[in-house]
Amino acid sequence: MSGTCVIGLQWGDEAKGKLVDLLTTQFEIVVRFLGGANAGHTVVVGDEVYKLHHIPSGILNPKAVNVVTPGVVINPATILKEIDSLTSRNIKVAENLMLSDRAHVVCPWHIAEDRLMDGEPVSGESIGTTLRGIGPCYRDKVGRSFAIRLGDLFRPDFRDKVAKIVSIKRRLLSGLAENSDLSDALNADSICDEYEGYGERLKPYVADTTPFLLDAIDADKRLLFEGAQGALLDIDHGTFPFVTSSNSSGVGVAAGSGVPPRCVDRVIGVAKSYTTRVGGGPFPTEQDNEHGQRIRDLGNEYGTTTGRPRRCGWFDAVAVRYTARLSGVDGMALMMMDVLSQLPEIKICIAYELDGKRIDHFPSHVDDLRRVEPVYETWPGWNVDVTGVRTYADLPADARKYLDRVAELVGRPVDIVSVGPDREQTIFVNE
Ligand code: GDP
Ligand code: IMO
Ligand code: MG
Repeated sequence: MSGTCVIGLQWGDEAKGKLVDLLTTQFEIVVRFLGGANAGHTVVVGDEVYKLHHIPSGILNPKAVNVVTPGVVINPATILKEIDSLTSRNIKVAENLMLSDRAHVVCPWHIAEDRLMDGEPVSGESIGTTLRGIGPCYRDKVGRSFAIRLGDLFRPDFRDKVAKIVSIKRRLLSGLAENSDLSDALNADSICDEYEGYGERLKPYVADTTPFLLDAIDADKRLLFEGAQGALLDIDHGTFPFVTSSNSSGVGVAAGSGVPPRCVDRVIGVAKSYTTRVGGGPFPTEQDNEHGQRIRDLGNEYGTTTGRPRRCGWFDAVAVRYTARLSGVDGMALMMMDVLSQLPEIKICIAYELDGKRIDHFPSHVDDLRRVEPVYETWPGWNVDVTGVRTYADLPADARKYLDRVAELVGRPVDIVSVGPDREQTIFVNE
């Protein structure tokens, strides 16, 4: 039994895609267990750039089976686009992709609902979702009565079910939709035609992935679990309500995939060597100034899915210590060290001050998180291009000191260092 998982320790976009692609040759099966088209995972191989939303980043390894499990919410149109785009680039998808029939399906009314609801914040600031219908789809999953799972597309009562859901949704959404035209999002006949068409095309990939994974475990296969989003976006343990609608920390692996927690014996936490966030919500170390802009420019910090500029700031050791413990991290991968190389000095947040008191825990309420003052340590920049460095020993001394300090503050070793987007631009510290 060997299960490794890769979990983002910040607010997403930590470069999980790069890491999973890199590790994938050591595994037979790669598993995506949460989220949906809100995720955007980038893999760079030489001149080729792949952007994946639902499909695990193991798909570029022709020997790995890639499994999308019940915890994921699937937008059939988007996943078909991904399949087509990969196939047209000669990536082997047909034999290597499985989609759970238990995964819930994002429908047009979910996307309409996301647009209507995210514009109506109750507490002053909107979540700033990716508008991919993720929250409404998970809401319907938990609510049960109006949900559609991938397997439902192939059932004889599919059209009936959609017609009933649409009639209820029309009543529920009409009050919110004063100035919005919901006719397309609630046209049962055309949605059924469209989704039956998607179903036909997706059918070869659809299976009950749960026994497949349980058999794989019995057969001692090696599994790699690919996190999406980041632990601070976890619905239960993140910066609620500015989170996504599923368990994106390490605690979500078992629930989303259907694999018992004891089958995961290694957790790799991925973090950027600074911090970014997309959307609303508190971000104590944010640099809404020239420092943040410099990081955004150097790191090309624009969303993979929505293209939105990412908010940028310093590494927050309080937050990452929290999420590393929460996710049971064994060791960290620290990404984007090349971006920091060009800064004259670098800060790390080592604690917070709240109401005049120094604290080192991550507050559970966003109102408190909004009020904390970060306590910083300042480190000298190393001012050396590290994009060609391939061993830990060859990193500049100041970069090594920075990494050692991050490891010490988080309480977990840094095992992998990334110095650029390409597969090659990676340092395995102990090799
Ligand atoms: P994910 O959602 O966690 O997979 O991350 P994204 O793909 O959304 O964002 C990470 C971005 O950083 C992508 O554009 C990657 O190609 C890029 N990237 C990954 N590692 C590095 C690195 O070490 N340095 C730089 N400069 N870019 C990197
Ligand atoms: P990857 O897997 C960064 C953020 C959104 C928003 C909040 C809720 O690429 O790291 P949602 O659409 O999920 O209801 O939005 O979560 N968010 C992400 N931010 N990376 C992601 O995925 C994200 N997925 C969701 O910006 O603040
Ligand atoms: Mg991303």
